[in-house]
Amino acid sequence: MQDQVYTKPYISDEHAYSVAPMMDLTDRYCRQFHRCLSSEVLLYSEMLTTGAVINGDRDYLLGFDPSEGDVVLQLGGSDPAAMAQSAVIGEQFGYAQINMNVGCPSDRVQSGRFGACLMAEPGVVADCVAAMLDAVQIPVTVKCRIGIDRDDAYEPFLDFVEQIKAVGCDTFIVHARKAWLEGLSPKENRDVPPLRYDYVQRIKQAHPATRFILNGGLQTHEQTLPLLLGSDEHPELDGAMLGRAVYKNPWLLSDVDELYFGKSPVLRSRFDVIEEMLPYIDDKLSAGISLGRISRHMLGLFLGQPGGRLWRRHLSENAWRKNAGVEVLLEARDKVLVAAARVAA
Ligand SMILES: Cc1cc2nc3c(=O)[nH]c(=O)nc-3n(C[C@H](O)[C@H](O)[C@H](O)COP(=O)(O)O)c2cc1C
Repeated sequence: MQDQVYTKPYISDEHAYSVAPMMDLTDRYCRQFHRCLSSEVLLYSEMLTTGAVINGDRDYLLGFDPSEGDVVLQLGGSDPAAMAQSAVIGEQFGYAQINMNVGCPSDRVQSGRFGACLMAEPGVVADCVAAMLDAVQIPVTVKCRIGIDRDDAYEPFLDFVEQIKAVGCDTFIVHARKAWLEGLSPKENRDVPPLRYDYVQRIKQAHPATRFILNGGLQTHEQTLPLLLGSDEHPELDGAMLGRAVYKNPWLLSDVDELYFGKSPVLRSRFDVIEEMLPYIDDKLSAGISLGRISRHMLGLFLGQPGGRLWRRHLSENAWRKNAGVEVLLEARDKVLVAAARVAA
């Protein structure tokens, strides 16, 4: 990172920096790409419902490559037995942790009685977490909001966390805004309710031995690191989870191993990352996966760089063509190289 202001890296455990679970985005191809950018970042699956895990095509839904490293399986559900059964299946597939979704506000999710509406039912969440903790050896965590609907009180959030903590959950990932279950779309619910990082700081102060991972609206390392490091007024937080900012600008991950995990910096360029992805992509193409399914996650690699738009456009226009192969990626890369050389000249 240029203009680095922090001389002491923030060294913590596996939760120090993670990429948020995002439906339709954080699939296995996305995770492989993100893993090429950081060996330490904790990666999450998309949310899977217990119904899908128990009755669906498991290899398709749950399968992932060991080269993705540590991946957390996020489950959506509210039946303790089904959650426990799904957690066991996830553990058998090799997931590093199980996370329960108590933050998603979509109608579909509310009618299935899981996601953010469960913020109003801490007892149900506690029963699910207890059942999962009983059933698996791997860690079980909860991703929640700070509350639901327009009521602005801190106490229900505290009560929610304390009830889940009482059954043995020691890690909460908090999307630090309320979900308004009526009147806002899921997308609006990720932007409109105001961010309240102070709620997360306050609860960390009340429960210093419990992990609290901050999520919501984080964009840069300059913004994120001070929140984790704490200050005279604010406690240290245990980690940051970023979703949209990383997806849009994946190069953010290239500094994560050094800044958040204290690893020696690795000098690598964006072009090196493409090279690293090639054997994986070749392998997946041979298995019948289309290039577009993988390269769509790589569109932001050159965000803000010379040739970044050419890269995006070339991939968007060509990667979905029938039989598109790695040559499409190499052509896009060459366009960036030409644009970069022009700027340098
Ligand atoms: C397209 C999209 C899909 C999402 N899907 C999920 C999901 O499956 N499970 C979940 O817990 N949160 C989901 N979220 C919410 C994110 O995990 C995260 O909490 C939210 O985007 C706020 O973080 P950010 O501001 O860093 O993006 C999704 C967000 C987006 C943008």
